[in-house]
Amino acid sequence: MKKYVFAAAATLALAASSIAQAGPEAEVLHWWTSGGEAKSVAVLQQEFSANGGTWTDMPVAGGGGDAAMTALRARVLSGNAPTAVQLKGPAIQEWYEEGVLADISKVAEAEGWDKVLPASIAAHMKCEGQWCAAPVNVHRVDWLWANAEILSANGIEMPTSWDEFNAAAEKLQAAGVIPLAHGGQAWQDATVFEVVALGLLGAEDFHKAFVELDPTTLGSDKMVAVFDQMRRMRGYVDSNFPGRDWNLATSMVMNGEAAFQIMGDWAKGEFMAAGKVPGEDFLCASAPGAGFLYNVDSFAMFDVDGADKQDGQALLAKLIVGQNFQKVFNLNKGSIPARVDVAMDEFDSCAHLSASEMTASSEEGSLLPSYAHGMAMRGAQSGAITDVVTAHFNSDMSSAEAVKMLTQAVANSL
Ligand code: BGC
Repeated sequence: MKKYVFAAAATLALAASSIAQAGPEAEVLHWWTSGGEAKSVAVLQQEFSANGGTWTDMPVAGGGGDAAMTALRARVLSGNAPTAVQLKGPAIQEWYEEGVLADISKVAEAEGWDKVLPASIAAHMKCEGQWCAAPVNVHRVDWLWANAEILSANGIEMPTSWDEFNAAAEKLQAAGVIPLAHGGQAWQDATVFEVVALGLLGAEDFHKAFVELDPTTLGSDKMVAVFDQMRRMRGYVDSNFPGRDWNLATSMVMNGEAAFQIMGDWAKGEFMAAGKVPGEDFLCASAPGAGFLYNVDSFAMFDVDGADKQDGQALLAKLIVGQNFQKVFNLNKGSIPARVDVAMDEFDSCAHLSASEMTASSEEGSLLPSYAHGMAMRGAQSGAITDVVTAHFNSDMSSAEAVKMLTQAVANSL
């Protein structure tokens, strides 16, 4: 009995002390759990704590965020939304329409976000004119990563066309090297697919297919060619690929088990966290084809009661778009800052390539939202496309059948 009395007294004392220490607090749901990702989110956690905030971490493992989004839905449905959530693209608008997002315009206006963010990024962060999310970075998706030593040992240059890629992959295969490190998870299949699609369709048709959802382009012969190339890609991965996490695929390139990986530049975060040097240990190049697939990570604040939580949301939003945070975070994450006024001199050659090609593609009209990473369309449509992509990749379905399924699946999802 006595034990319980003591326990109750201890709980009360604890409660009293936390009331006394009350200040900004945030429960943050995110899916940054790999080595490079964890190092990056720690930067935010540290800045938040250094500014008097109390951070409750809610990491949900699973690259691409599918598991995190399922966890989020369960929390919101049970009336217990986290304070801040890693959310992006049209999903921000979808949650806004459900009436559960907080308005962070006060912070955005006080901090002058409109002056330091490109209009295209700001547009994703606004819901009916009010600010409903804060951007962290710009990730590029259409990258080719390679193990430098394997390429030079096999007399291979970074491919600049898909034909060159295929020739390199076949040469590597003949030499007993796994050409492509890949993890068989739907979002990774979708990532490779959209990169191949950008390369083979070109920017204009990519836009028609994956932004406008134009049935003619989705059902075109060019799309058949995209699936043909996906079938070849399937032949370049090792037999242990099903279910493999993306960061383990990156490790295969790092360790010399595989030559290439097609993945967004969060993969660079892994290389860097392991002390690898771009241009020496690993190579980066934009995947064959012109254009730039962008993926902007951001945080949305959910409507919550309590001054401490609301203060936490305001503090977090302010820090996220802060100049120093955008530099340090992105140095770790592999991405580039969303703000236009962050000095780039500490960034590596891959980041510089990303920044210059982003500007160039914006001028040429080939700066495009990533469909595989939730930037181009709503969840129902992207889910329908990914189902077809992954069903094709993991079976012997013909390209013609896949294209037929694709047009039907998109039409049914609208
Ligand atoms: C996110 C990245 C993340 C990656 C792998 C992407 O969708 O934008 O921040 O590192 O998924 O989890």
